[in-house]
Amino acid sequence: MLDLFKCIVIINLFFVFGCSNVSETKKYTIGFSQTGINDEWRKSMNQAMEIQAGFYPEIELKILDSEDDIDNQIEDIEQLISEKVDLLIVSPIKSKPITPIVEKAFKSGIPVLIVDRKTDGENYTAYLGGDNYEVGTNAANYLASLSTEPKKIIEIKGLSGSSPALERSLGFNDVINSTKNLEVVKAIEGNWESYSIKDSLRDVLNSVKNVDYIFVHNDRMALGAWEIVKEKRLQNQIKIIGVDGLNGPNGGVQLVKEGKLMATILYPTGGDEAIRLALKILNGERVAKNNTLSTTVIDSRNADIMSKQFDKIYQQQQDIDSQQIKLKKQEERYTTQKHTLQLLLALLIISVVLVVYSIYTSNKVRKKKRELELRNKKITIQRNQIKKIAEEVKTSNEAKVNFFTGLSHEFKTPITLILSSTESLTENKVIRDNKLLNEVGLIYNNSKRLLRLINQLLDFRKVEDRKFILKASKTNLYQFSVLIFKDFEREAQKRNINFTISTNNEDLSLFLDRNLMDKVYFNLLSNAFKFTPNNGTISIDIVDEAESNFVKIHFKDSGIGIPKKEIDNVFQAFFQGSNNNKASSGIGLHLTKEFVEMHKGSIEVYSKYGTEFIITLYKDKVHLNSDEIIYEPDIIDGTILHTSLEYEDDTFYKPLVINDDEHYSVLMIEDNLDLVKYLKGKLASEYSVHVSDGSDGIEMALELIPDIIICDISLPNKTGFEICNTLKKDLRTSHIPIIILTALNNKETYIKGLESGADIFLTKPFSFAILSQSIKTLIYNREKLRYYFINNVHNIDATNNFGSLEQEFISNVNKIINDNLDNSKFSVENLASQLNISRIQLYRKMKAIMDVNVSDYIQNTRLDRAKILLQDSQLTISEIAYATGFSSPNYFSTSFKGKFNKSPKAFREE
Ligand code: FRU
Repeated sequence: MLDLFKCIVIINLFFVFGCSNVSETKKYTIGFSQTGINDEWRKSMNQAMEIQAGFYPEIELKILDSEDDIDNQIEDIEQLISEKVDLLIVSPIKSKPITPIVEKAFKSGIPVLIVDRKTDGENYTAYLGGDNYEVGTNAANYLASLSTEPKKIIEIKGLSGSSPALERSLGFNDVINSTKNLEVVKAIEGNWESYSIKDSLRDVLNSVKNVDYIFVHNDRMALGAWEIVKEKRLQNQIKIIGVDGLNGPNGGVQLVKEGKLMATILYPTGGDEAIRLALKILNGERVAKNNTLSTTVIDSRNADIMSKQFDKIYQQQQDIDSQQIKLKKQEERYTTQKHTLQLLLALLIISVVLVVYSIYTSNKVRKKKRELELRNKKITIQRNQIKKIAEEVKTSNEAKVNFFTGLSHEFKTPITLILSSTESLTENKVIRDNKLLNEVGLIYNNSKRLLRLINQLLDFRKVEDRKFILKASKTNLYQFSVLIFKDFEREAQKRNINFTISTNNEDLSLFLDRNLMDKVYFNLLSNAFKFTPNNGTISIDIVDEAESNFVKIHFKDSGIGIPKKEIDNVFQAFFQGSNNNKASSGIGLHLTKEFVEMHKGSIEVYSKYGTEFIITLYKDKVHLNSDEIIYEPDIIDGTILHTSLEYEDDTFYKPLVINDDEHYSVLMIEDNLDLVKYLKGKLASEYSVHVSDGSDGIEMALELIPDIIICDISLPNKTGFEICNTLKKDLRTSHIPIIILTALNNKETYIKGLESGADIFLTKPFSFAILSQSIKTLIYNREKLRYYFINNVHNIDATNNFGSLEQEFISNVNKIINDNLDNSKFSVENLASQLNISRIQLYRKMKAIMDVNVSDYIQNTRLDRAKILLQDSQLTISEIAYATGFSSPNYFSTSFKGKFNKSPKAFREE
């Protein structure tokens, strides 16, 4: 929708403004530096220019008035240059001082049109103005035509240094000098204005008598001259001739008509011609450098006609002016109308678009509505179906849960029976004598675990059904805690875990449901023990908050901790932590929280370095209903209610441990103590068995270099896959066969196991016979490989790739020995360090792969090489001895004889 409006606005803006501005753009700026605007001649020139420029909309005319001051004019032209006008028109006050700035403009690339007065030199585009020389000659010729009698003339000149004054005088004097009866008796210099000549003329007339004519360079000064002549009452004797011939009051034509002047020489301003010429230059047309305007004499005979013609022209100009004004108004009206029309058009477009859009949207809405109605119907049908299915699922779920609950209950009795029978079996002497105690202990412990799981399941169901009723009795919290603490002490000792309990108030009693709280403690502690590695710390700390009504129980461990993003989920039923590789039901912590909350308490969990659970409980009983409180004797005198402890007795485990070089060694990486005990008991008679709980599996494998490794998958630190992967990639352990044991029986786990390089993959429960046979087969295969390596030892090199690290290893060993064959100081240490392994690792690796002693292997290589040299080379026996790294020929002979039963000499002679 927004896009649509943006579009409409853009289109309309284009219509309204896009078209209108084009015609109003000015294409050219013409700058005109005028000498001044105080006299009528200049005013008429400017007016003519403006009228003419008005005909050309593409022209903008800018006129600057220099007030007849040369410095002003230089500044004005400088300004027009910096404004980068397209064409410069200059009427220079004087030639010389204005010439440099005009040249600057011209050289900067601005076309320059000089009007009326000239500059020095030729650096301008064109000149336009009346022919001032002709003005002078016209005036002189006119006077010559009047009489042949001798006549005296006074010449009054224009501003000295301006080209019209110079040229007019030149033209005038050229004719006078060639005309015998005419003589210029005096010349006066003015500045074009009447006041400038009055005093001088008065003086001249006082001194020079019988003057007949005065030639004045312009009409303004001519009027001044007439006033002086009149003052001297000489108006009937002296005739004045001026220049300019302007029409209008005090213009030359008027003065002629009034008889003040005898004549005036027409000197046209050329304002309109200047604009036309400028336009031609701007349009790139060729123009003449000198453009002169024609001049003529106006006297009493033609003054009237001229005046009328001028008036007519003036009238016509006025008409044109008013026509132009009208045209402008018309144009403005047209523009306004055009804008209105464009606006209307734009509005029309908007309305059409909106109408189309609204039709489109209403259609869309109608369609959407139909779709929604349809979807609604479908959803209703689906909802009903789901409801029905949910009900069915609920019923069947209920049935299933009831079935499992019933089944769990059913399990309880047989397991309890197994437990009690097992317990009595442990007492049995026959069993003890036959060393079967270990296996009976396993049955006992695992039955116990099963029972606990079943109890948890039943508790979960009870919690779900809200069937638990709290039975809280007054209990000394510290004594209660110590009893449970004691049950875990043995485990702590065995695993060297620093396990402590402390309180700041040993006498504090609370109302607890001992049965439920026992489960809470047991759960938190078994978790702590499960996830804390050997040599770690676990503590129970009871803090009686003196000022408050609460007590806090802290359970803290230095275990693997809980990832930060999972910490909020730990109390959810069936939650499994991502770093928890151990099998777990995921309901223990859920039940813990439920049980604590049944006491109206709360439980929090923190995990930074290890995990900390904090239980907060009420100290008094106001939070409990009366039916939740029961009487029970204090635990000091009562029986211990805790029964969930797993039966752990070291007497069950008395395996026969073999630890010598005669037997193959087995490293078992497994954290399930029962399984460890079981397997250790079974394997110890045949193998030298070593155990790691997973935390140091890799380190132990590297240290022992065992003959075989049995590895579980779910381990506390690293998974079995990771361990297997690391060992198989390490040259020192890569040859060791690995059997993976796991309870996870699925395709992905199996593939992962094979990918990690495991040799055999056994799923739990497995038969010991299969495991035993697997170990034997793997060891047999290794022996076969060892046999192969021994017999092909010299054929193994890096290029002969059998795809195993062992090949690479032996090929490296051979290469290093061969490279050092003539070096008698080359030792096992040298070889190990070049292989980047320790001496003992090299020893074990060589033993494992080829069953040879490393120094024997080096010696044999030397002797084999010597044997070849004895057969194939011409070298002496001493030379061969040194070439194969023996320190002396004697030692060589003894060693050779020791291996081949012949001295080197005898061997060569054969
Ligand atoms: C006007 C004027 C005219 C004269 C011309 C010469 O300023 O003085 O009277 O003819 O300039 O440039």
